[in-house]
Amino acid sequence: MEKREMLYEGKAKKVFATDDPQLVIVEYKDDATAFNGQKKGTIAGKGVVNNRVTNFLMQMLAAAGIPTHFVQELSDREALVTKVEIIPLEVIIRNISAGSFAKRYGVEEGIVFDEPTIEFSYKNDDLGDPLITEEHALALKLVGPNEIKRIRTMAFQINTILKDFFAGINVELVDFKLEFGRVLNDYIVLADEISPDTCRLWDATTHEKLDKDRFRRDMGGEVEAYNEIMYRIFGEKC
Ligand code: TMP
Repeated sequence: MEKREMLYEGKAKKVFATDDPQLVIVEYKDDATAFNGQKKGTIAGKGVVNNRVTNFLMQMLAAAGIPTHFVQELSDREALVTKVEIIPLEVIIRNISAGSFAKRYGVEEGIVFDEPTIEFSYKNDDLGDPLITEEHALALKLVGPNEIKRIRTMAFQINTILKDFFAGINVELVDFKLEFGRVLNDYIVLADEISPDTCRLWDATTHEKLDKDRFRRDMGGEVEAYNEIMYRIFGEKC
């Protein structure tokens, strides 16, 4: 597979064309941003952790019947994926109160919900990714009525699978963000990444944060936290 011109550079990843028009290469960077890019930094080795963790989880989900964009891991920082048209929605599932949920409703972090919640943000940097209702996403034609149903179903299925997996490595899956894309014939697949950048992961015993909140909140120890997730999944650090 030949790596060709860069198609897109995001905050944490670059996307390259290949000699196959239906496939692209994603390259994970160590760059970290928060608060819509206002806070910038790097987390050494993050690109490796996020690539390897995402690829592992995508393969696990695929084996459980969730269609994903993942094709093949190419290197420590690169994955071959199906080229998709990203649906401009961030799909957020929460199992435990934290982050913007705790802030918006004035509650503490760590309240375990009886049922997971779902919410959507409109992926639009100029607007700061505002929360959006399903009806507004339909009105704006960001997504179709059948698509949003499918996305909801898939997101909750993904939550069940990931929650069980993380429980097995003594990690609580507090919340996470997913993105979906359309491939040929408007078929919907899971895209983007599932990593400590896009999930809140707490040690199940100590509730220590093992995710990007350490960077967002200037807590320190982010390199160790990302490595700890890598270690619990693969038994090795990067
Ligand atoms: P929030 O509590 O800040 O709304 O975040 C919910 C989850 O979504 C959390 O696991 C972090 C993830 N997330 C992203 O992946 N990208 C983002 O831009 C934001 C705001 C959150």
